[in-house]
Amino acid sequence: MNSENPSAGVPHQRRKRYAGKNPRKFAEKYKELDPLKYPEMQQHVAQSGKTPAGTHISVMPAECLAALQLVSGQCGVDATLGYGGHARKILEIIGEKGFLLGLDVDPYEIGRTELRLREAGYGADVFQAQQSNFAGIAKALAAKGKSAVDFIFADLGCSSMQIDNPQRGFTFKDHGPVDMRLNPARGISAGEWLKRTPVDAVEKIFMENADEPQAGKLAQGLAGRDFVDTLELAREIARLSGDASGDTTRRVFQALRIAVNDEFGALEAFLRICPDCLCSGGRLAILTFHSGEDRRVKKAMKKGLTEGVYASISDDVIVATAEERRANPRAIPAKLRWAIKA
Ligand SMILES: C[S@@+](CC[C@H](N)C(=O)[O-])C[C@H]1O[C@@H](n2cnc3c(N)ncnc32)[C@H](O)[C@@H]1O
Repeated sequence: MNSENPSAGVPHQRRKRYAGKNPRKFAEKYKELDPLKYPEMQQHVAQSGKTPAGTHISVMPAECLAALQLVSGQCGVDATLGYGGHARKILEIIGEKGFLLGLDVDPYEIGRTELRLREAGYGADVFQAQQSNFAGIAKALAAKGKSAVDFIFADLGCSSMQIDNPQRGFTFKDHGPVDMRLNPARGISAGEWLKRTPVDAVEKIFMENADEPQAGKLAQGLAGRDFVDTLELAREIARLSGDASGDTTRRVFQALRIAVNDEFGALEAFLRICPDCLCSGGRLAILTFHSGEDRRVKKAMKKGLTEGVYASISDDVIVATAEERRANPRAIPAKLRWAIKA
């Protein structure tokens, strides 16, 4: 290959066509998805107040850094690396004497994020990425020869890159397999889960994972059925619920995603093990996005305070500023809590 022009010798392909001035579908956003070839595109989309496809805007970055109280030379874990937005800000503060271990279950995005951070100048001496569930944080640290660190950060749920890509099955706005697994190599897809799970268990999941008011009716209509794709499932949820606004569909998709990824089981295991992975005075900060997550974080931190495991915890949840909520709707439900190891 010609090293000066990587496209040399590659047959010319016609530009993908889309109706209107701007691409709407994920597959049409090839310019946003290829920042090396179209370096100006992501900035252009971000300036219009949108999240460029294939990227993720970090939620409450200033508040998260304030909660972690980082100083140069510290060592810690970003348990949900995602696009690496928070990680990059952490790395800027801990500097060349610090060390950050980034964990993520997602086998596709973790490699891209690692590469981006390497290209930004962070070598393996200051940053390493590892595909791991954060429930296994103690094992992941032990593999790096560490037992306790100065800080642990987690920004729960999934990233915009995962939601945007219809092939991952998280979006109800486009055709895609009913998958929703953060790590598609493990467990069963959401479609398979719906097909195999009895009505009463589906109802329980819709209630517990998304406080869905029509859980019973939706479970009756969806359990045991086979859906060819996410749009068909979304249409059926809208039909059964009589809600065309997308709110019920969003809640049901959330409930299914939490179930197939065992998100509450992983969070509870993580919350149990975190104190063992922190040095005395070490800080834990967790961003949650719905009541099921926040309840668990709040309960674990309060229990840790009562038992003397934590010396101090945040009195109240910290939420995004009005300005951030306006600029990034993902920040609207975000709640941040912190704890300091005794
Ligand atoms: C909201 S995104 C993180 C975004 C990141 N803070 C940033 O600024 O780019 C959440 C990430 O956590 C990952 N994740 C979710 N549950 C996980 C778990 N149990 N263990 C490890 N990673 C998990 C998801 O794959 C996703 O990439």
